[in-house]
Amino acid sequence: MSSKPDPRDDTAASQGDAAVLARHTELGYAGQPVLSGLEFEIPTGTRVGVLGPNGGGKTTLFRALLGELTPLGGTLEVNSTTATVAQTDRSRLDYPVSALDVAVMGTLGRLPWWRRPGRRERKRALGALEKVGLADLAGSTFGDLSGGQRQRVLIARALTADAEMLLMDEPFTGLDNKSEARLETLIDELSSSGHTVLIATHEVEQASRWDLVLCLNKTQISFGDPAVALSKPVLEATYGGHIVEIPGQPDLGVLPAHHHHDH
Ligand SMILES: Nc1ncnc2c1ncn2[C@@H]1O[C@H](COP(=O)(O)OP(=O)(O)OP(=O)(O)O)[C@@H](O)[C@H]1O
Ligand SMILES: [Mg+2]
Repeated sequence: MSSKPDPRDDTAASQGDAAVLARHTELGYAGQPVLSGLEFEIPTGTRVGVLGPNGGGKTTLFRALLGELTPLGGTLEVNSTTATVAQTDRSRLDYPVSALDVAVMGTLGRLPWWRRPGRRERKRALGALEKVGLADLAGSTFGDLSGGQRQRVLIARALTADAEMLLMDEPFTGLDNKSEARLETLIDELSSSGHTVLIATHEVEQASRWDLVLCLNKTQISFGDPAVALSKPVLEATYGGHIVEIPGQPDLGVLPAHHHHDH
């Protein structure tokens, strides 16, 4: 009667509940490596800040996790259904689609080619919009929403697609403080409900509040608990020495210099 899998069949699932396992991984384009030496294991349900300078390899890693790039060397094991939360492309904001339409698009990959999304899919999408706190704006035109709201609609789309792991590529860019705080809270909630969330960011201080950090600069500089993996030498190696200290926080309060603004 029971069809429970025999745990002994599990031999291939190497490291318990790792969402991602990288071993000697090398990534690149047309055979040319741009990111190498990846050695990390990301447990399911964690929030991981991915830090690195422009060109450091953050987006390349995300593309590999999505299966768009095959490692040039080593292995990259992904044990989670994965979706990306792209930056909203301003040139596409003229389409007269609603927030709900965008969230419904997350169901398309699950449907056979001959089926259009119907009531069930709309219900799933609405549930996802509710999770991101936007149920009341389901009927609003996507392009009329704020940047932070659009970002959350795209997270809802990933949830509608049943993604266990969400890849957010610089999701805070261009958000005001309030939207940023809401998105941070949402990331915490997603993680609490079992989602693994990888966030590429330039904000070191923000990343220090998450579970793990991965510092990349063409190679893996460090990985682990932010308290350990975000030392000053690590940040210097990550950002090439162009860092400044935040006054009063000499140990952790270091930021890439080009992101240190006077407000
Ligand atoms: N399609 C591509 N073909 C060849 N090289 C590429 C391609 N995409 C990226 N690269 C190169 O790979 C390296 C890493 O780029 P990547 O976009 O992953 O960096 P990033 O950390 O996301 O940077 P940013 O902070 O600017 O978004 C760069 O040297 C870049 O020029
Ligand atoms: Mg990038």
